[in-house]
Amino acid sequence: MRIREATAADAALLFEWRNDPSVRERSFDDKPLDWHAHVRWLDGCLSDPNRLLCIAMEDDRPIGVFRLDRLSEGTVVISIALAASERGKGAGPRMLRLAAAECQSRFGSVTIEARIKGDNLYSQKAFAKAGYRLETCIMTLQLAREFDDRSFDG
Ligand SMILES: CC(C)(COP(=O)(O)OP(=O)(O)OC[C@H]1O[C@@H](n2cnc3c(N)ncnc32)[C@H](O)[C@@H]1OP(=O)(O)O)[C@@H](O)C(=O)NCCC(=O)NCCS
Repeated sequence: MRIREATAADAALLFEWRNDPSVRERSFDDKPLDWHAHVRWLDGCLSDPNRLLCIAMEDDRPIGVFRLDRLSEGTVVISIALAASERGKGAGPRMLRLAAAECQSRFGSVTIEARIKGDNLYSQKAFAKAGYRLETCIMTLQLAREFDDRSFDG
């Protein structure tokens, strides 16, 4: 596997991957994406010095994507997705190791943070295999528009 920086020519491929229902469902923003908004998002990513978007290639085939977002001097947030046909074969942890090396050469000795939904066990396992450790657990409570104390039922 090797990685390369994404370009504007990857717009359609990235649109397909980002709009995959199983990726949307595991994302913190689960609404389907609109093509024009996606192209604006990609342009913004490519011109932002605090962001790096890379495609992982296996035998010259694109198989996945990762994005690094530098939030502060010391913290970078990572997001990843593999093409559906490539999941469950260890490509995720391999891509994560390449992403960490790229992150170090770009941003130095930062901490990389992965924000993963609590029920995304595949992803948690893949990050653990690449050396990530669980540090913080965020619990959420979604309140209805109208207050309803059944929200508190345990
Ligand atoms: C999350 C993701 C990057 C993990 O990469 P991966 O290459 O599939 O990871 P692995 O092959 O190491 O699999 C991790 C674990 O999940 C299991 N798994 C992954 N996909 C699976 C599938 N489709 N069916 C059954 N098990 C699966 C693996 O068996 C493995 O479990 P094990 O450690 O007990 O053997 C990839 O599955 C993906 O892109 N998913 C959709 C998008 C997503 O969830 N992104 C992350 C948001 S934080």
